[in-house]
Amino acid sequence: MARKILALTFDDGPHPDTTLPILDLLSEYHAAATFFVLGEHITAQTEPILRRALQQGCELCSHSFSHPDMTQLTAAEICAEISETEKRIEAAAGVLPRFFRPPYIAVNDAMFRLIPLPFIAGYGVRDYDDAVSAEARIRGVLQKAADGRIILLHDLAGNTQTVAALREILPALQKKGYAFVTVSQLFSEKGIVPQPHQKILYSYAEQTAMYADDL
Ligand code: NI
Repeated sequence: MARKILALTFDDGPHPDTTLPILDLLSEYHAAATFFVLGEHITAQTEPILRRALQQGCELCSHSFSHPDMTQLTAAEICAEISETEKRIEAAAGVLPRFFRPPYIAVNDAMFRLIPLPFIAGYGVRDYDDAVSAEARIRGVLQKAADGRIILLHDLAGNTQTVAALREILPALQKKGYAFVTVSQLFSEKGIVPQPHQKILYSYAEQTAMYADDL
């Protein structure tokens, strides 16, 4: 029988104070994850973090350049958000992003038409909100974990509660038999080839409707 897999994903980094402890924890548990980075956060200071993530077997994807609500942008602005982020990821780490996560999970037809990457959402626990405790984040992720799903977390600056939560989440899910893989590995192990321009916001590998149930 195939193993149970989950794709842990982290948005809005890289930031030294959160991304580095997250990478330490992933390494401790031999876990891979996917980082949906913001182009504007890729600087001389943070480039080494991206290279380390890759060396650990993690994947680097795009979350736009400046985190705008892209449904409000012109076509040229949408394309610039994507291409500038691609350039910075490639310059920093020598790879191109294979997936895109829209800021605020806000999408429209123009974005699906113009952005040549599959769109990724995921099962989140509002971990961008300081009022959501580490305990609530742990509980939420354990409830939402299921084979083939994408989990949406944030390596936002100062998000120590998600780092604390991850310290419990990784061993708890490992004990339940989950392996942690990148988004690319998740689709590949499930035999799915996600295509761009499909108007699907993938929260699990086999999804065919635009939004997943039970988000
Ligand atoms: Ni974001």
